[in-house]
Amino acid sequence: MHPELSFDHSLRALNTFGIDARASHYLRVTSVDTLRAALADPSLAGLPRLVLGGGSNIVLTGDFDGLVLHVAIEGKQVLPDAAPGLTLVRAGAGESWHGLVEYTLAQGLGGLENLALIPGTVGASPIQNIGAYGVELKDVFHSVTVFDGGQLRTMTAAECRFAYRDSVFKQPDGAGLIVVDVTFALPLRWQPVLGYSELANAVLEAGLTDPSPRQVADLVIAIRRRKLPDPAVIGNAGSFFKNPVVSSTRCAEILAAHPGLVHHAQADGSVKLAAGWLIDQCGWKGRSLGAAGVYPKQALVLVNQGGATGAEVVALAKAIAADVADKYGVVLEAEPVFV
Ligand code: EPU
Repeated sequence: MHPELSFDHSLRALNTFGIDARASHYLRVTSVDTLRAALADPSLAGLPRLVLGGGSNIVLTGDFDGLVLHVAIEGKQVLPDAAPGLTLVRAGAGESWHGLVEYTLAQGLGGLENLALIPGTVGASPIQNIGAYGVELKDVFHSVTVFDGGQLRTMTAAECRFAYRDSVFKQPDGAGLIVVDVTFALPLRWQPVLGYSELANAVLEAGLTDPSPRQVADLVIAIRRRKLPDPAVIGNAGSFFKNPVVSSTRCAEILAAHPGLVHHAQADGSVKLAAGWLIDQCGWKGRSLGAAGVYPKQALVLVNQGGATGAEVVALAKAIAADVADKYGVVLEAEPVFV
């Protein structure tokens, strides 16, 4: 039996929703060797497994009867070998995402600034291809090291099959992979990405004609603080639903009946609808069911108002999705993983 294994372990501090569930077996994994030893341990082999990073994208719907592997592998470095035009930065899966963003900024490296202040760990970033303010992880991704059936291997972006808040790691053929570290490719000739109008406006209002990565990061941090709840203060998992993508024909039909619909045409001809707007229009903003509520400043974020159970969060999400389906004929898909 692994010496650092603990039993009946509270997961409350390990999920940003702050749901009070317990794991029958828990192990904090600080190195590849610990991981290898745990996975080779016959007494743990048959247990269902849950890999946890910062717990910022999960909803614990009950106690977990199995082994929680809490990945806490540390380390951040600028790699000596750069690809042409790029600086490569590698970070351990257990590093805080925002800590990595700050580290790159402190080295004068741009590229991650639009992704500042996203909760969670580096290891979780490829799982759902995190994104904000016009940048997705895939845009700054170089490669990922995974633990795959006892072996370490490197995966390229193509192998990760990144899509909007999605990757191979959320699919059955990638679910068994454990992220050990991630390498990022940051451009030597940095240009700000200001396609997202709220960020572009903030740059204009600040009077910045030639913003630095640090300045862009500070504006992103200010926008996020204004709109999104700090999980350290009020439990949440960021956007609870993905923005639904529909055909342009379907969007035109909805627009005819609801001219205010917030929508963005995509490069492939489809249209992304603002789920926050749909939920807001259904009157859910600021409402609650039990101790689970809809954040008053951003209807896409569900919050734990204190002592919420996973079942309450699920009930609220179902009620919201049912109303949006009734009013707009649009299916909302949850962003976090349900355990
Ligand atoms: N809106 C409303 N009411 C609301 C919320 C939003 O009318 O209560 C409208 C806004 O006015 C805006 C539109 O909906 O016109 C979009 O809202 P916002 O700009 O806040 O962005 P979002 O689409 O709700 C997405 C990401 C966020 C990311 C922001 C910025 C998803 C599911 N969410 O939110 O990501 O930070 O854009 O890029 O794609 C996350 O994934 O956890 C997350 C926070």
